[in-house]
Amino acid sequence: MRIGIMTSGGDGPGLNAVIRGAVRKGARAHRVEFAGIRDGWRGLLEDDISPLTTYDVRGLSGRGGTILGTSRTHPYSGGGPDRMREVLAARGIDAVIAIGGEGTLAGAARLADDEGLPVVGVPKTIDNDLDGTDYTFGFDTASAIATESIDRLRTTAESHHRCMVVEVMGRHVGWIALHAGMAAGAHAVLIPEFPVPYDRIYRWVRSAQDRGRAPIVVVAEGFVPEDRGEAVAAKGDARDGRPRLGGIAEELAPLIEEATGIETRSTVLGHLQRGGSPTAYDRVLSTRLGMAAADMAVERAWGQMASLDSTEIVRVRMADAVDRLKRVPRSRWDEMQILLG
Ligand code: F6P
Repeated sequence: MRIGIMTSGGDGPGLNAVIRGAVRKGARAHRVEFAGIRDGWRGLLEDDISPLTTYDVRGLSGRGGTILGTSRTHPYSGGGPDRMREVLAARGIDAVIAIGGEGTLAGAARLADDEGLPVVGVPKTIDNDLDGTDYTFGFDTASAIATESIDRLRTTAESHHRCMVVEVMGRHVGWIALHAGMAAGAHAVLIPEFPVPYDRIYRWVRSAQDRGRAPIVVVAEGFVPEDRGEAVAAKGDARDGRPRLGGIAEELAPLIEEATGIETRSTVLGHLQRGGSPTAYDRVLSTRLGMAAADMAVERAWGQMASLDSTEIVRVRMADAVDRLKRVPRSRWDEMQILLG
C-alpha cells in the first residue's frame, strides 16, 4: 500500500509532527510506503508528488511550518476529482491523508463521501474553531506565543504608564484571545462571540488604571464592538471569499486614549502566532493524530478524521465536524468576566 499525505490551507505549528507520526507508524506498524503531496490539493491536481521515507521525517516533531508546503487551492479546481483519480492511479497511491482546517476538511469530506475518493483527515487550526475535536494542534502554541508577547508588552506598558491593546488571531472565534487573556491576566478581553459596547471597554481600562495597573486589552481579530456603526462593521474584501479581519487594535487604541486619558499603544501579533516551534503539548497531540491517521488509511476509514476526545484519539465523520464553528461558550465567557477590570 502507498499513502499520500498533504498539508493544505494556512500552516500551523505541529504539521510536521503529524507527518512524522503518520510516516513512522505507517512504515513501522503497517509496512506501507508514503508519498509527499506538495502544496495541498495543488500537488494532487498537478502531480507534484515525491516519495517520503522515515529518513525524510527525522527530527521533525519540533519543526514549525510544513516540509510539504501548503496552498489554498480548491480541490474542485483544475480537473477536480477526475484529475485526482488519474494522478492517484498513475502514482499507485491507495489513500490520501489530508491535514487541514475547515475548508480542507470540507473538501476532503466531499471527495470521500460524494466522489468515492480514498481520503481521511487530520484537523488543524490555530483558531481552535473546529467542531468534532476538543482541541486542534497549533492552538496551544499560538496561545503560548500570545501569552508570552502580552507578558512582554506588560513590562514596557508599566514602565511608561501606558495602556496596551494587543490583537490576536482567531478568525471568527475568540479562543486564542480567551486563553492568552486569562493566562496573561489581561484587564479586558474582547471576543466576537460576546460583543461589548465601547463604554464597557473603557470601564475595564479605567478600573485597571484606578488600581495603578498598566491596562492590557486583548482583542480577537474578529471582534466588533456592540455599538459600532453598520458602515464600519461592514468593511471587508473578497479575498478567498473571506471577510477582511483585523485592524481592530489600531482602531480601538486612540478611542481608549481619548476616553480614558491614558496613553495607549496597539500591537498586532499576526503571523508570529503561527510560526516556529510547536509546544510540547502540540507536538504530542500532532504525533498521536498522525499515527491514528496512518491506521485509518490502512483500515480504509474514508471520510473520517482523527480527533481528540478528552485524552483519547477517536474517529469522527469529517462531514459532521465541518458543519459548525466551535465558538467560545457562555460558561467560559462568564468565567473570564470575573477576572477582568
Ligand atoms: O485560520 C488561521 C489564521 O491564522 C487565522 O487566525 C487568520 O485570520 C488567518 O489564518 C490568516 O490567514 P492568512 O495567512 O491567509 O493571512
